[in-house]
Amino acid sequence: MPSKGSKKACDVATAKIGFVGAGKLAESIISGLVVYGKVDPKRIHVAAPSSNNTDRLKQSFQGLKVSKRNLDIFGKFDCDIIFLAVNGSVIRNLYKLGGSRPAPLTTNYIPNMKHPLYVLSLITGFEIKVIKDCLLNPEHPEKYMLEMHRIMLNCAAAFGLGVCAVDVEPDSKKLAEPVRALLSLVAKLEYIPEAQMDAACALCGSGLSFSYYFINAMSDGALKIGLSRAAAVKFSAKTVNCATQTLLESGKHPNELKDEVCAPSGGAIYGLSILDKADVASGVSGAVEAAYKRALSLAREDNPA
Ligand SMILES: NC(=O)c1ccc[n+]([C@@H]2O[C@H](COP(=O)([O-])OP(=O)(O)OC[C@H]3O[C@@H](n4cnc5c(N)ncnc54)[C@H](OP(=O)(O)O)[C@@H]3O)[C@@H](O)[C@H]2O)c1
Repeated sequence: MPSKGSKKACDVATAKIGFVGAGKLAESIISGLVVYGKVDPKRIHVAAPSSNNTDRLKQSFQGLKVSKRNLDIFGKFDCDIIFLAVNGSVIRNLYKLGGSRPAPLTTNYIPNMKHPLYVLSLITGFEIKVIKDCLLNPEHPEKYMLEMHRIMLNCAAAFGLGVCAVDVEPDSKKLAEPVRALLSLVAKLEYIPEAQMDAACALCGSGLSFSYYFINAMSDGALKIGLSRAAAVKFSAKTVNCATQTLLESGKHPNELKDEVCAPSGGAIYGLSILDKADVASGVSGAVEAAYKRALSLAREDNPA
């Protein structure tokens, strides 16, 4: 990407950060950036059609700027790194409204910025090239200094603990340094091919709630056998954390570790046979699959978000 222009390429300490969409995911990322990444809210700009979410964001993060016009993120606010966090139905609707090309997400196509622009799409179900057609003026695509990626970032970003998948190797030159540095404030970065981004999203996005469900179910069992609710939840969570850490540290397959902690005729194997009988494994894998299918069908529905 060319890097010359009237404004210098940004760095993570000064970049103006934009969000198109102000929903759950945008709020999680903003919260993580401000609270854990120590990003000054004055550098954060958000566009959404109503004030349903932006009013709350303005109150929570003093100095954060909002607009009802998506174009302001690129024009008036002149942001450097922009997250696209709208539902897929918004993009679908642009294609429905347009003729031979989709209508622009920003009313007019985004201006040819005089500085590098980094756009990160979180939108489920849509490839980069499909989104690009909703942003760039087709007459002069060569005028843009644009680096665009599809990413997955789960809501744990709100605690600076997110999982983030990017469509290029995050440590390579294919990912600009300010983007790598910004995302690293709230998440650990991994590579996932663009074609697998929706699957990663179902696993890491919805999987977070499945994990809470599992922790809660284990703590219910502990409550039954006499632990207090607070202790049961805390120790359940810590146990799942132990399992996660040992799995990632050892590089072993989960089944191998599972076998290692089962003593002959011990409690663990008796408990596992209850899970097998209840078909928990197929329930959990089915939940991931259902989340994936549902997210894609929502993206494909024609109703505007
Ligand atoms: N890739 C990932 O890691 C990941 C993880 C979770 C979710 N997602 C995806 O991220 C996207 C956002 O999810 P979410 O949970 O944050 O959704 P959400 O809570 O439903 O929020 C959607 C936001 O988009 C705004 N919006 C609607 N139409 C718009 C338009 N034409 N222009 C600009 N903004 C518009 C809404 O505005 P109002 O505030 O006015 O209602 C709202 O703020 C979805 O595509 C979802 O599938 C991705």
